[in-house]
Amino acid sequence: MTTATTDPAPQTRNLDALRAEYESFRARGLALDMTRGKPCNEQLDLSLGLLDCLGRDFKAADGTDCRNYGVLEGLPEARALFAELLDVQPGEVIVGGNSSLAMMHDVVVQALLKGTTGGPAWYGQKPKFLCPSPGYDRHFAICERYDIAMVPVAMNDDGPDMDEVERLVASDASVKGMWCVPRYSNPGGVVYGRAVVERLAAMKTAAPDFRILWDNAYAVHHLVDAPPPLASLLAACAAAGNPDRAIVLSSTSKITFAGAGVAALAASAANVRHLVGGLSIQTIGHDKLNQLRHVRFFRDAAGVTAHMKKHAAILKPKFDAVTAILERRLGGKGVATWSEPVGGYFVSLDTPDGCAAKVVRMADEAGVKLTKAGATYPYGKDPRDRNIRLAPSFPPLAQVEQAMELVAICVEIAARERASA
Ligand SMILES: Cc1ncc(COP(=O)(O)O)c(C=O)c1O
Repeated sequence: MTTATTDPAPQTRNLDALRAEYESFRARGLALDMTRGKPCNEQLDLSLGLLDCLGRDFKAADGTDCRNYGVLEGLPEARALFAELLDVQPGEVIVGGNSSLAMMHDVVVQALLKGTTGGPAWYGQKPKFLCPSPGYDRHFAICERYDIAMVPVAMNDDGPDMDEVERLVASDASVKGMWCVPRYSNPGGVVYGRAVVERLAAMKTAAPDFRILWDNAYAVHHLVDAPPPLASLLAACAAAGNPDRAIVLSSTSKITFAGAGVAALAASAANVRHLVGGLSIQTIGHDKLNQLRHVRFFRDAAGVTAHMKKHAAILKPKFDAVTAILERRLGGKGVATWSEPVGGYFVSLDTPDGCAAKVVRMADEAGVKLTKAGATYPYGKDPRDRNIRLAPSFPPLAQVEQAMELVAICVEIAARERASA
């Protein structure tokens, strides 16, 4: 673990000393940004080979000229690659454009306007989505934009509180969907346990057209050599007799180039047919050259796994720095808890109730930008004002260390001031 010790006995300092330390940080005029989970330049450089791996050979395995229109479901070899990565069958995969978030947006908007394989348009039915929280702000933004009411559900160590989920979906036919980031949730780094996956697949829903948007954005983004397993939701739904419930999404945004990778969706045959019907109105075909580049660059899932180990070697010291500094500065003081993720892009920090917004403001005033407090909850409102998402991937290690020293100081000051108020 990285320790970057600057003060061997911080626990002995009093509030005045902490405030003085905060002021000295402020005087440094820092300009650090820990807001978004972006890959750093060194990570992006790992995929430079993508840029010239095609040369002038732009034919897919079946002879398709990838420079031209068509093949809406994606190149067969790209579908096979994602199938391996997502633990599904190639026929269940649609390979899309550059963004899985755009695919999620389309799935939701098309369900609102035209319905799903299971029922008519959601629009007019006052649809609701379950939102395990803390969660991903851009999922919540889709719901907010289209007036889908969000119902927060607490997260446990193995996924959402399933007693609550089962109760809500069974009792209310307007609950049409649910967001899930199943392996390395954003921001908690939680991995859904097998029992949770099976309950999600088998639970009785009042809505026949209930959909789980299974955003497997961090499917292969491990920080450890022996990653925790994740059961296949698609297989579990099929086994439970609810084959159309799961819509699985993923992309190479944090494997190759963020925003210039390839996205994919996996679902039942009926859902694939239905969604391709919608896609055919939207586009004459996605960027197959980029799909072919990815297949040539990686060859297969083993190629992706080897590549992800290079990402982990860059990211792990940054994650270790975050947790080591939190532990050294705050450990045992009862002023914060935090996740220690074994994959994904975030560390989730919980302050005492009523302190998160203040910590984010204090850090900002001293030159460290953090994700807005509340962003990890529906409508941007953390009911306990305590959760902060830390995103250590982009800044260089030395900056992550500096930023975290400051964040820890802010947390302790805010917590102590609140306790004495
Ligand atoms: C959970 C999750 N899903 C989706 C995305 C965005 O994916 P894409 O770049 O494929 O649109 C992110 C990016 O931070 C994310 O954290």
